[in-house]
Amino acid sequence: MSSEDRLLQFLEHIKDTEGGVKYEKALSSLGIEKSQSLVVDWSDLYSFDTGLATLLLNEPQAVLKDFGSVATQKLGMRDPAYRKEIETVRVRIRSPPFEVPIRKLRAGHIGSLFMISGVITRASVPQPLITKAVFICLVCSEEISLDQPYHTLQPPEKCPRCPGRRLILEPAKCTFTDVQWLTAQERPEDLPPGQMPHGASIRLTDDLVGSINPGDRVRVSCTIEAFQKDKTKLILETYLDANHIETIGTDQEGLEISPEDEEEILELAKDPWVHRRLLQSIAPSIKGHESIKEAILYLLFTGVSKQLPDVRIRGDINCLLIGDPGTGKSQLLQFTAKTAPRGILTTGRGSTAAGLTAAAIKDKGGSFVLEAGALVLADQGVACIDEMDKMRDEDRGAIHPAMEQQVVNIAKGGIVATLNARAAILAAANPTLGRYNPYQTIAENINLPVTLLNRFDLIFVIRDIPNPEKDGQIVDHILRTHRNPGATHAEVIAPSLLRKYISYAKRTDPKLTEEAETKLRSFYLEMRKASMEGGEASAIMITARQIESLIRLTEARARVHLREETTVEDAEAAIALMQRSLEQVGIDVETGKIDIDILYSGKSRSLQMQLQVVLKGISEMSLRGAVRDDDLFESLSEGGLSRTEAVRLIGVLMRDGTIYAPKPGYYRRTS
Ligand SMILES: Nc1ncnc2c1ncn2[C@@H]1O[C@H](COP(=O)(O)OP(=O)(O)OP(=O)(O)O)[C@@H](O)[C@H]1O
Ligand SMILES: [Mg+2]
Ligand SMILES: [Zn+2]
Repeated sequence: MSSEDRLLQFLEHIKDTEGGVKYEKALSSLGIEKSQSLVVDWSDLYSFDTGLATLLLNEPQAVLKDFGSVATQKLGMRDPAYRKEIETVRVRIRSPPFEVPIRKLRAGHIGSLFMISGVITRASVPQPLITKAVFICLVCSEEISLDQPYHTLQPPEKCPRCPGRRLILEPAKCTFTDVQWLTAQERPEDLPPGQMPHGASIRLTDDLVGSINPGDRVRVSCTIEAFQKDKTKLILETYLDANHIETIGTDQEGLEISPEDEEEILELAKDPWVHRRLLQSIAPSIKGHESIKEAILYLLFTGVSKQLPDVRIRGDINCLLIGDPGTGKSQLLQFTAKTAPRGILTTGRGSTAAGLTAAAIKDKGGSFVLEAGALVLADQGVACIDEMDKMRDEDRGAIHPAMEQQVVNIAKGGIVATLNARAAILAAANPTLGRYNPYQTIAENINLPVTLLNRFDLIFVIRDIPNPEKDGQIVDHILRTHRNPGATHAEVIAPSLLRKYISYAKRTDPKLTEEAETKLRSFYLEMRKASMEGGEASAIMITARQIESLIRLTEARARVHLREETTVEDAEAAIALMQRSLEQVGIDVETGKIDIDILYSGKSRSLQMQLQVVLKGISEMSLRGAVRDDDLFESLSEGGLSRTEAVRLIGVLMRDGTIYAPKPGYYRRTS
């Protein structure tokens, strides 16, 4: 029996779950869907005829051609009208059995059908590809039509009707198909630790064009196509020609968890100290930074994202570390990127031209391609951004919606796209002047706009202050680590189990309970009331944004325990962590009160008022030239301002450029 007959039998044989003939039904609905593609599961073919299924893998071109003509024939019987509309049915094979990692693609794979998976980093705009070219003879105007199966245009040798040798292409009469080029990269979760991802180009044709966006995780059935770019060389250029491409849905988002893994995970969750054990397993090589590690723990587990009728609220927790050099920030980021089931480590500059968000860039041929940046590639995972303050200007604007609505919009070079960026962000930044200055506000300390700062759920400041006790602990810890790098604390959970535990925990969406809600509610109201009591001058202390942050943290903590419901303890822990973060960044250094206003306005209200007092003093006294410092201190001390405080405030004004020193010890207002 010929392979065509077997393929026909196959189409008539395979039943679906409802007892219908699966592929006949699929063929009948092609007309309704206006599709030209019949998608066939390789496993169906294998269960029908192992020999044929194997032949398909080894000689895909020939078998797919036969398959296509058989399917077209069959369509002619079931839907003759639609059969006339389309030229041919294309058979696309879903899930062939051999998955080749992108970094292992070799010459030996040429000629066979296999599967790759990856994340799409780039997509070109769709372009027309000539499949049949029409040439016109310049002498006698004869039209010559030629199929174009190769990578370069093949013109006819000469005119068949006259001796003319000058023939030109007539684009309007050619037949085209759509073609689009993608670049796929190994998925971060598949990368061997510490390796850079490898990439491959993929060609999509016909109805596959336009179905994929940068940032999508895909599985592709494909063959390697080779062509000669330089006729004098023995080296061929290659690309992957996609026969079928599908995005990997959210159901496969997590890691694979075997029944034994599950047992181990549930065992661990039963431990009453599971929270502490997990916390100790966050960057165990870094000493201290307990609050930050707790924040990272919740960031890894994430809160629950909610789809409301009108908008989506993110569940991801964004966290920023601002700190002095050499305090372990980069190490914490590295750990997080490695541990998150989908983690990406990048710098503010981004690893590619697309930076942190996305970019439309010109490729070698001059046409635009859309390239995904770090946040898009980290969709549904964690983006660890080191040195965020060194972010590109293009990203500064685009990152705002990326952090809150979790999408990246791009409209440039004919490309209009909205890409998903549902990622949690762990960012690190250095203070502008090298070291954190506690007498300045956070906005003054860091080269990031305030609007961006308040999109972080938690911000922590790491200051490198000599402290004999802590220093001793850190030096001992580092010495121990270096002496015995392999040794781990018995309490520390192995990174592989930790990843699986996180992935498993994210399957449950904990509900907010009434008790937890009451706790969060009374905290919020108390904080708001405290700010009212301070009178009109007092700043707003906490805003609605923080409520959402608290909810996320509460839910994340419930997930740490694999609980379906949040408890009062979850809410309390979330509040305590938030307070610690607020204290570090928002504390009003004058009153000791927490003052969210600093985050927004850059300067705390009481500092601004004191600066006004000093400035007024200088203005009043400088009628007769520059003011001598001792005179100024004396007059200010009458107003209750100590000399040390005055010195500090003068320092702030000097740095601002509001006042200057015409000679040492004398001050004057800058006009
Ligand atoms: N608390 C700590 N415990 C253990 N090791 C630490 C600690 N702080 C810093 N180190 C060590 O000091 C080194 C420098 O840390 P790291 O590179 O992470 O600093 P950083 O905060 O990123 O600095 P920079 O701002 O300059 O980039 C690392 O090898 C790290 O292991
Ligand atoms: Mg660093
Ligand atoms: Zn001619």
